Amino acid sequence: MIRGIVIVGTLLLGVGVVAAQQDLVAQRATLMKANGKNLGTVLSATAKGDKPYDQAAIDAALNVLEDTAKKLPALYADSTKGLKSEGDFQASPKIWENKAGFAAEIDAFAKAVSDVKAKAKDLDSLKASLPAIGKQCGSCHEGFRVKT
Ligand code: HEC
Repeated sequence: MIRGIVIVGTLLLGVGVVAAQQDLVAQRATLMKANGKNLGTVLSATAKGDKPYDQAAIDAALNVLEDTAKKLPALYADSTKGLKSEGDFQASPKIWENKAGFAAEIDAFAKAVSDVKAKAKDLDSLKASLPAIGKQCGSCHEGFRVKT
């Protein structure tokens, strides 16, 4: 009886751990979608002139990207290797095979975001500095993201 309870308890614990890892994968998808939204509907839309220049909105979007860069390393924990995302894109196994390369991508992304934060003070400076961020999103996707 007690043994049965222990076994069931151990199984439940196992399910809980897998669920927690899968939650990291879901958090990645949520953050990446927010990246797309902040870049597309706020930063790029403003740079293109589709939205009036609003320094508070620009700073807010850049702060979210900066925060995201800080969260990324933990979200790609070893324990999530091989877990599938429900989205259209998956994390490439290269993330865990080339950890230094992936860490360098995160650093380059964080640097691009802080550069734009320092430079974007009006429409012209936003236009001039923003492409560096999109370039880093693309660079990481090229090396470390695969289509589902
Ligand atoms: C350091 C690497 C890295 C950086 C930087 C990065 N991404 Fe991603 N992105 C990924 C990976 C890996 C995936 C695949 C999903 C996963 O990780 O589970 C992804 C997925 C996505 C997705 C698809 C989400 C889904 O579930 O369909 C979007 C959209 C996206 N990224 C947008 C962006 C944008 C926009 C930026 C820049 C502002 C960015 N990403 C920066 C690595 C990165």
